Amino acid sequence: MRILVTGGAGYIGSHTVVALLERGHDVVVADDFSNARPAVLDRVAELAGRRAALEVVDLTDAGRTDAVVAAAAPDAVVHFAGRKAVGESAERPLDYYRTNLDSTFSLLAAMERHGVRRLVYSSSATVYGDHAPVPYVETYEPLAAASPYGRTKVMTEQVLADVAAATPGLRVALLRYFNPVGAHPSGRMGEDPQGVPNNLMPYVAQVAVGRRERLAIFGDDYDTPDGTCLRDYVHVLDLAEGHVAALEHLDTMATPVRAFNLGAGRGTSVRELFDAFCAVVGRPLPHEVVARRPGDLPAYWADTTRAAEELGWRARRTIDDMVADTWRWQQANPEGYPA
Ligand code: UFG
Repeated sequence: MRILVTGGAGYIGSHTVVALLERGHDVVVADDFSNARPAVLDRVAELAGRRAALEVVDLTDAGRTDAVVAAAAPDAVVHFAGRKAVGESAERPLDYYRTNLDSTFSLLAAMERHGVRRLVYSSSATVYGDHAPVPYVETYEPLAAASPYGRTKVMTEQVLADVAAATPGLRVALLRYFNPVGAHPSGRMGEDPQGVPNNLMPYVAQVAVGRRERLAIFGDDYDTPDGTCLRDYVHVLDLAEGHVAALEHLDTMATPVRAFNLGAGRGTSVRELFDAFCAVVGRPLPHEVVARRPGDLPAYWADTTRAAEELGWRARRTIDDMVADTWRWQQANPEGYPA
């Protein structure tokens, strides 16, 4: 297939582009590099042995988006592009609603105009909100996220369901990611957050390489085995393979719009992840326990039955793989990708 990948220069996007190219698909990346570096596409080419085409485009520009979809003439679209920082979304809600919703509107309109009927969408476990029983199952309703960022994911899922109901033949997979971490095992691609990392794994990696002084563990008084929060960490290469599986199953999905949890199906604590990182680095890393971070849930992970049964997909890589691959990437690229 010929696949248009929006946000294909980002962290999950770039790993997915490699997986798609390796699988024999042709790829056009659409990215505005607002949170990614062009150099990543050279690394993609190096690993996959051939290049993805590139369109530099801000998807909130409906006219440009239409032109890009027309020129790419894709068989399917994988839509990663969007803003994704929970804390920032509370400070700049309008920016988040406008960017994440407008870009999807542009894309859907262009897909309709040019007869593109397959879409894989980057959703998030955050759509389950504060009240869903753990492990999370795809059939849970009502969806209700706790941040403006998360609400853009809930709203977009609803928009996609409505548009699909009105568009015969449109097939949409909603991929709900748990906590994506890790890097390409070559050490050539990985997560490259701009500014201070918000998330645990990139923060620990920057402490290990000396860019940050110490990890702050946000609370160790939760009702969990070691008092720190449990999350479902999933290796970015497993996630990339999940996108390939979803794309290849779109035409045979049980319903035209279908949600799939992409997680490992188990909870790992902040302390366990941190200890695993210290073990691979070979020395204790500086850290302190501080107050809880507002909004953090104590523990959640995925029920992965549906993805296993319907997509034939399962996360295969371990926490040790995630940590070792992250450390290899961070050591080889202490400042991330070249500017
Ligand atoms: N944590 C720390 N110190 C840090 C960073 C994180 O102790 O410096 C802890 C958090 O408190 C949490 C765990 O590490 O317990 C994981 O935090 P992350 O920020 O890495 O991940 P979250 O689970 O908070 O975020 C994920 C996704 C978001 C999504 C969010 C919904 O990355 O996209 O879940 O809650 F919106």
